Amino acid sequence: ALVPMTEMLKKALEGKYAVGQFNINNLEWTQAILTAAQKTQSPVILGVSEGAARYMSGFKVITAMVNALIESMEITVPVAIHLDHGSSIEKCKEAIEAGFSSVMIDGSHGPFEENVAMTKTVVEYAHARGVSVEAELGVVGGQEDDVVADNCIYADPQECKELVERTGVDCLAPALGSVHGPYKGLPNLGFEEMLQVKELTAVPLVLHGGTGIPTADIQNAISRGTAKINVNTENQIAWTNMVRKVLASDAEVYDPRKVIGPGKEAIVETVMGKIREFGSEGKA
Ligand code: G3H
Ligand code: ZN
Repeated sequence: ALVPMTEMLKKALEGKYAVGQFNINNLEWTQAILTAAQKTQSPVILGVSEGAARYMSGFKVITAMVNALIESMEITVPVAIHLDHGSSIEKCKEAIEAGFSSVMIDGSHGPFEENVAMTKTVVEYAHARGVSVEAELGVVGGQEDDVVADNCIYADPQECKELVERTGVDCLAPALGSVHGPYKGLPNLGFEEMLQVKELTAVPLVLHGGTGIPTADIQNAISRGTAKINVNTENQIAWTNMVRKVLASDAEVYDPRKVIGPGKEAIVETVMGKIREFGSEGKA
C-alpha cells in the first residue's frame, strides 16, 4: 500500500542515506521504478509533476494505476506517491483527494510570508489525512515542466528555521545551487548553508535536481542532513537514448512494445544505480 514519506525519511536521516524520488510519466516509467525498488529492497518515492499529471489525464488515473501496479506486481517495499512542485493549495488538495500519500507545496516563488501561509494551510489539510508535506525555500535553477528559473537563489537558513517552526512541515527543500535538468559544468552546492539548515531545523532535507550531481557531492549532502534526492532528467535521458538506439538499429520495427520496452529496462538499471548510490538498498 501507499505510505507517506514521514517514516521513510526519518529512518533515512537517522541511518545516513537518502531515499530517491523518481518522477513518473506513464505506465512503463512506473513499472520500471517499482521493479528497481523491489529488486533492491528499497523504499521509493514516485514523483508526479503537474505537467506529468496533465499528460496522464489527472491525479485519479495516476493513483488508480499505482495502486493496481503495487498489487499486481506484488510490491512489498514502502512506496509514496508524491505531488512534485505543487503550485497551489488547490492542487495539493486535489492530489490528496485523489489518494496521493504525499505532496510538495512549492511556495518558493512568492514572498516568504505567503510561502509560510500556503505551506501551513497545506500541512493542516494533509496531516489531518495522514499525508506528508514538503516545502521549498530559495530557487532551484533550470526547468522542470512549469517550474522555470534563470538563476539559482540560495535559501536563507534563518528563513528555513522559521518556516519549519511555523508550519510543521515534514521535510524541506532548501535550494542551494541545484538545477533542474543537466548542469552547465559542475554543480556548486552550498554545503555550509546545508549544514546550518540541518542544525537549525532538524527535519529531513530534500535535494532537487539530482541529475548530474557527482557521487562525492551526493555523499556530502547526505552527511549534511539530505534524506531525499529527486531524480527526473537522468531517467528521461536513459529512456530516450535506448529508444533512439532501437529505432536507429531497426528500420522495420513498428510494434510499440519493441520500441519502448527496452527503454523501460534502461530506467530499471538507472534507478537501481541511484538507489545504490543513495544508500537506500536493503532499507525497505
Ligand atoms: O523535482 C524533481 C527534480 O528536482 C528532478 O531534477 O530532472 O534535474 O533530476 P532533475
Ligand atoms: Zn524539483
